Amino acid sequence: MYQKFNKRLEGQTALVTGSSSGIGSAVALAMAKEGANVIVNYVGDETGAIKVVDFINNDEVSGSAISIQADVSKEDQVQDMFQKGISHFGTIDILVNNAGLQKDAAFQDMTLAEWQKVIDVNLTGQFLCAREAIREFLKRGPRPEISAAIGKIICMSSVHEVIPWGGHANYAASKGGVMMLMKSMAQELGPKKIRINSIAPGAIKTPINKNAWDTPEAEKELLKLIPYNRVGETSDIGSVAAWLASDESDYIHGTTIFVDGGMTLYPGFYGNG
Ligand code: BGC
Repeated sequence: MYQKFNKRLEGQTALVTGSSSGIGSAVALAMAKEGANVIVNYVGDETGAIKVVDFINNDEVSGSAISIQADVSKEDQVQDMFQKGISHFGTIDILVNNAGLQKDAAFQDMTLAEWQKVIDVNLTGQFLCAREAIREFLKRGPRPEISAAIGKIICMSSVHEVIPWGGHANYAASKGGVMMLMKSMAQELGPKKIRINSIAPGAIKTPINKNAWDTPEAEKELLKLIPYNRVGETSDIGSVAAWLASDESDYIHGTTIFVDGGMTLYPGFYGNG
């Protein structure tokens, strides 16, 4: 039986991009448990998206979710997704800019296509979705009985917005970009009561990094990078996202919250350097 939470997001609608699996699906579920309607966005994995939607709509969670397909890097598809979501639920209060991918390569071998794809999805996708969300927030205006802010945006970043990552230059560059995108939006739109932050996950068990944790040897290596000595679970991110979308965190604006078991403490320096 699923634990019922505080329903801190009752009466609100959350759009979570890339939520057919991994961190996105845990965020979608966490939002639903807090009482939010949820739009589960996906690009290729329809089966995964349906599973998440069914899980939210079943008796245990008894939430309200729909799935919408869209490639977040395509302007027309993003606009269409917002239109569909808004016409279904009335408005959107929370955007979680989660969709992201890796296309790893040694720098000298990285193709322009590998560079471009990662920047398009991880960075341009966040811009396009944030722009549509902000347009909706400004158009709709305040609903103080629902939330202190007129809308909230959570950008899914990574520890690699600050930790350089050889072999993944496209990914690290995209997340460094997300950091400045988030901060610039927060500076510009705070006065309009739009609250914008990032979550920077460390190593979380998802398909994106399976080879880094799915054998005991790999996990042992990975744990050397994590002072708290466990690999993260997607629910570690879901719970922080739900809180960050709620009024409990209303004075947090323009910040990155690292959820990484201490990975950004550079544990390699312990006793060295
Ligand atoms: C990456 C993962 C990686 C983690 C820690 C994430 O942003 O997507 O592949 O395990 O950072 O390095």
